[in-house]
Amino acid sequence: MISPETAKIILDQKTYELPIVEGTAGDKAVDISKLRSQTGYITLDEGFANTGSCKSSITYINGEKGILCYRGIPIEVLAENSTFIETAYLIIYGELPTRKQMSAFSQKVLRNASLHEGMMHFFDGGFPFTAHPMAILSSLLNSVGCYYPNMVTNHREQDLEHFDDAAALLLSKVRTIAAMAYRMKNGLPLIYPKRDLGYSQNFLHMMFTEPYHEYYPHDDITKALDLILLLHADHEQNCSTSTVRMVASSGANLFASVSAGVCALWGPLHGGANQQVIQMLEEIYRSGDDGSAFVEAAKQGKRRLMGFGHRLYKTYDPRAKILRAAADKVLKIVKVKDPLLDIAQRLEDMARSDDYFISRNLYPNVDFYSGIILKAIGMPTDMFTVIFAIGRMPGWIAHWREVASQVKGRISRPRQVYVGAPIRDYVKMRYREGEIPSDWESDDHKSLGGGSSENASAKA
Ligand code: ACO
Repeated sequence: MISPETAKIILDQKTYELPIVEGTAGDKAVDISKLRSQTGYITLDEGFANTGSCKSSITYINGEKGILCYRGIPIEVLAENSTFIETAYLIIYGELPTRKQMSAFSQKVLRNASLHEGMMHFFDGGFPFTAHPMAILSSLLNSVGCYYPNMVTNHREQDLEHFDDAAALLLSKVRTIAAMAYRMKNGLPLIYPKRDLGYSQNFLHMMFTEPYHEYYPHDDITKALDLILLLHADHEQNCSTSTVRMVASSGANLFASVSAGVCALWGPLHGGANQQVIQMLEEIYRSGDDGSAFVEAAKQGKRRLMGFGHRLYKTYDPRAKILRAAADKVLKIVKVKDPLLDIAQRLEDMARSDDYFISRNLYPNVDFYSGIILKAIGMPTDMFTVIFAIGRMPGWIAHWREVASQVKGRISRPRQVYVGAPIRDYVKMRYREGEIPSDWESDDHKSLGGGSSENASAKA
């Protein structure tokens, strides 16, 4: 809503008044949307740390107080009482489902698990065995849309008409594609989910079932995975979600938009961090360091302590708090004695008592503990970010719909401050003094400039 307050800005000795917008939780923003047309100035905020890109009603975060709510419900309450699929419904549709709605939604997700046979060749030599599963996931999420031409028209009204089907389909197929990418890499036969298993249980079953051994995970392991998915389900305007929104703002369909989200998530500073956490722990272990040399290098800016720090949270990430407790539980069940987990514990202790990290509010983030849990349950490291992507799918879907439903939505198109070369002379730049070739008069310039093109074709 528009606040009665305004902000004043003085530019070139002239004062301008800018409206203040206030969110439902009291967040305030200076609305600069008319700043350039009124003053000729733009704002500069590299990395968008201080820029609101949209109004959204999906997720609320207060990084100073460590609050995270999906559709107004605190994450701690959902973690305690809900499941990933129920939370996905809440995020996508804005309300918790009735029992009937929940059952219909779960059935729809289950029914959509299979992949068109035409896609099977992707898993039969369509990708090299060395392909990262995030590359496979991004490509196949976009490809899967090609089998549903009525859902990928890039006409907003029509794509929105099929939204319910597309949302359930993506939630389901992202799990199938992820498990199949793993099975292909490991030379295992491809299998589909079972009717009587829940979402996360089915994923683990599809991942780890061997021809001679059907895998049914321990309930607490299923719960830990479900919790990881639930805690990752949305996180307002993070890098991948902003990517999804930006792609959606051009009018692109849901499948193309979430496929772009997967690419953004892959990076080590975002979703790729959980994989990097384990790689960092392995590196420390191999070097014989107890963690202190790595922490020192991080303080000197030579390394980054992966799994620490967050753009928004300046206190403990509430998701990390929940996963820390879950990690303790999982480690007791699987009874693994892994030296990497001891190093992780030491890193946490060191960072939490060191002024460098304290003064910069660098706490362990959700990726630190999700990495530890996933490693403990036997998940291969290159699947960590894929699991993050499965978890983030409801958020991407909800954000796509928010953008696509805006009647007067505008394409996302930031501006820049240009700092490159001034406008220059092409010819002088191409042939610097003393470098002008002897056949200058007869080469392809003439064909461009209208002279004889005799030699031009010979050179082309
Ligand atoms: N290790 C060491 N120093 C760090 C770390 C870290 N992990 N993170 C930030 N810092 C330092 C920076 O060097 C900087 O120090 P300075 O003030 O002396 O220059 C200060 O803390 C502020 O850091 P920024 O890079 O400005 O913080 P920003 O908000 O841009 O970055 C980010 C946040 C990307 C998460 C960063 O903390 C990081 O790289 N962490 C490691 C990667 C990671 O775990 N990513 C997962 C994020 S959570 C998620 O995606 C679910």
